[in-house]
Amino acid sequence: MNFDELIRKRCSTRKFQNKELAKDILEKILEAGNVAPTARNMQPQKIYVIQSEEGISKIDQVTRCRYGSPVGLLVCADKTACWQMNGYGSYEMDATIVATHMMLEATNLGVDSLWVRWFDTDKTKEVFALDENIEPICFLFLGYRASDCPESPGHHKRKDLSQIVSYI
Ligand SMILES: Cc1cc2nc3c(=O)[nH]c(=O)nc-3n(C[C@H](O)[C@H](O)[C@H](O)COP(=O)(O)O)c2cc1C
Repeated sequence: MNFDELIRKRCSTRKFQNKELAKDILEKILEAGNVAPTARNMQPQKIYVIQSEEGISKIDQVTRCRYGSPVGLLVCADKTACWQMNGYGSYEMDATIVATHMMLEATNLGVDSLWVRWFDTDKTKEVFALDENIEPICFLFLGYRASDCPESPGHHKRKDLSQIVSYI
């Protein structure tokens, strides 16, 4: 699969099979995140791999968007360990690039995914006992799409480039 095929194949999955992800596949996905660029190479990301029964039940306390995925990556960032300039901290941008790398590597390996931001930040910090400086950015749910997974409603709806791009 070349890159053009890969970015078009990726699609949000909202019904996963009850099927584990092999350890080597998961590690490849994590490695793909680890080669992501970050501002000034500060690498403020912290990734929690959540797949134990206890961890999954914690996920279900903070979001309704797991959709049966057996593995959630809680992608966080250390707000105090990122590039800072004029009051701007790059941690969220850094962490989302890392998450994007992992999401696309998942597709490359035949693993389906869902990016989720619909969770309560404070509750997530509390339930996962995150340090004050660790900010939860998103969940990336991984697994294998169920045969009756509904089609992602937004997937084929993209604005025309003319609405998005301006040449100056
Ligand atoms: C920053 C971000 C947050 C998202 N949060 C959620 C979410 O909380 N729940 C959900 O079901 N999908 C979520 N999504 C998935 C989007 O709804 C989805 O990517 C979009 O509708 C396009 O569909 P596609 O991914 O199938 O192409 C999120 C995606 C992004 C990039």
